[in-house]
Amino acid sequence: MLVFTKKSDLKAFLAPLVAKKTSIGFVPTMGALHTGHLSLINKSTINNTKTVVSIFVNPTQFNNLKDLEKYPRNLEKDIEKISELNPEIIIYAPSVKDIYENSTVSKKFNFEGIENQMEGKHRPGHFDGVGTIVKKLFEIVSPTHAYFGEKDFQQLQIVKKMVALHKINIIVIGCPILREPNGLAMSSRNEQLSIQSREKASLLYKNLVLSKKLFENKSAKEVERKLIILFEKEKDFTLEYFEICEEETLLPCKRKSKKKKYRAFIALFIDNVRLIDNISLN
Ligand code: PAJ
Repeated sequence: MLVFTKKSDLKAFLAPLVAKKTSIGFVPTMGALHTGHLSLINKSTINNTKTVVSIFVNPTQFNNLKDLEKYPRNLEKDIEKISELNPEIIIYAPSVKDIYENSTVSKKFNFEGIENQMEGKHRPGHFDGVGTIVKKLFEIVSPTHAYFGEKDFQQLQIVKKMVALHKINIIVIGCPILREPNGLAMSSRNEQLSIQSREKASLLYKNLVLSKKLFENKSAKEVERKLIILFEKEKDFTLEYFEICEEETLLPCKRKSKKKKYRAFIALFIDNVRLIDNISLN
């Protein structure tokens, strides 16, 4: 199992593969790996000659210092999980200094407005941080393919937009959301939930499924109104947003069009843990 902590060593190791145009699949993560992450890694190993997984809790995408501090970290266990999946996988687990050198700050990005919706509104600077780290990692790894989960659908669209706008020669692949048996979307943050809250949080997905049913014959506004009432009456939840948006632009759905694809998106707090989820509606 090769674990690199320095970008110069990783780049030197990958250089001959890049020169030979070997297909390199890349899965960026912040660690505390779960089955959702492993599904992305698995897809990459099936479709590429080499797979690189990065494990790096990126400080510049956290708009809240407490959230950054309590983010779960377990490198040993993560390495074990990856090596059980396939010991040929390359791990890059850098320090903040190796990535940011002496300036741990984000670059400013323009993602043509996608960055101002939902997560962008509620987590100022978050997508500048994501854009900064993903671009840096792409430059270090030089993959042919990169794998991102639909769990963070807005992030997936942002990365696709960045690749298009900056003419980066990487194929970005979106992967389906993996869920716990009770429907809760798998997330590193679930580790911070009590057993009771984990059970309670299954209501997120149940209500998303309900919104899909309602959307068959109701307007987006009607579905949003109904679902917001349902979430707000749960005293353990603090709802941040429930929105139905068009998939490409992530703009709110004003009037349904048969030609467009829509998703319902939710963010809420339970036990002071922020959870997000989404569902395709058509
Ligand atoms: P992280 O939250 O660790 O997620 C890494 C990747 O795993 C993301 O593409 C995310 O969408 C995907 N993922 C998480 N939970 C999933 C699930 N239940 N099913 C399928 N895929 C899932 O997202 C980040 O890290 C960071 O923002 C990062 C891209 C690494 C940049 O720092």
